[in-house]
Amino acid sequence: MSLTVRPLDAALGAQIIGLDVRDISQTSAVALHEAFLKHHLLLIRDQTIADADLVKLGECFGAIGKSRMVSPLSGRDDIMVISNIREDGKPVGQLPDGEMAFHIDQIYRETPAKGAALHAVEIPDAGGDTMFSNNVAAYESLSPALQKRLEGLLATHSFQYGETQRENRAEAQERPHYTHPLVRRIPENDKRSLSVCRLMTDQIEGLSEDDSRALIAQLCDVLENPANVYSHQWRVGDTLIWDNRCTSHARTDFPTTQRRLMKRVTIKDTVAPLG
Ligand SMILES: [Fe+2]
Repeated sequence: MSLTVRPLDAALGAQIIGLDVRDISQTSAVALHEAFLKHHLLLIRDQTIADADLVKLGECFGAIGKSRMVSPLSGRDDIMVISNIREDGKPVGQLPDGEMAFHIDQIYRETPAKGAALHAVEIPDAGGDTMFSNNVAAYESLSPALQKRLEGLLATHSFQYGETQRENRAEAQERPHYTHPLVRRIPENDKRSLSVCRLMTDQIEGLSEDDSRALIAQLCDVLENPANVYSHQWRVGDTLIWDNRCTSHARTDFPTTQRRLMKRVTIKDTVAPLG
């Protein structure tokens, strides 16, 4: 059975229909990758996915990276468990609580992730939505004058999760950080994508502190404009796969009294961002 790609009625994304993730043919894997490049975000619904099958699904898009922490809820080093479930008062997963500002995964590394697949196992009654911006459409929406201004600019990003308060630049330099083109080119289709985020972008090189902050804020406002964002309300059995080069994402708050358990594989990239 061949799969169907149905675009979401949103700024980005498509639902994949007719795919059994336990048995992905080579033809389906190619179709999935094409849809990933075109729509930046794929949604698969109503499938309970075992860890081994989540890894195989991720491998349709590239090699799978290792997680920083092996959780007892998986036991595998290629599965990142994102959860607020606690044992003896300690979270057994990563990124346990609360909202997260828009960010691009691993943007502080030389070669950030190409993408990720995230599968919902347990979700709270309300909240914990994941929002995605379309960074390609956002770039294309800029005026030609602003696109010209961004040409050749570099931005430095540093590791930061769970806080949006900017520190001074010297403190940011203490954390893992990397400098990338502010507008990156996607090798497969030559599209341009804004590579900036509220959470981890510290500085645009060559600009004054004030000009840099103003430009980062201006671009983040474009990215985070509701018209440029798809907000996903999770159901158990949902899986989202995103192109981390063409999107940024954020999480809304959710009650600490309710369990949330997500499993993720991170898809590695093979090249550092190109300008
Ligand atoms: Fe993330």
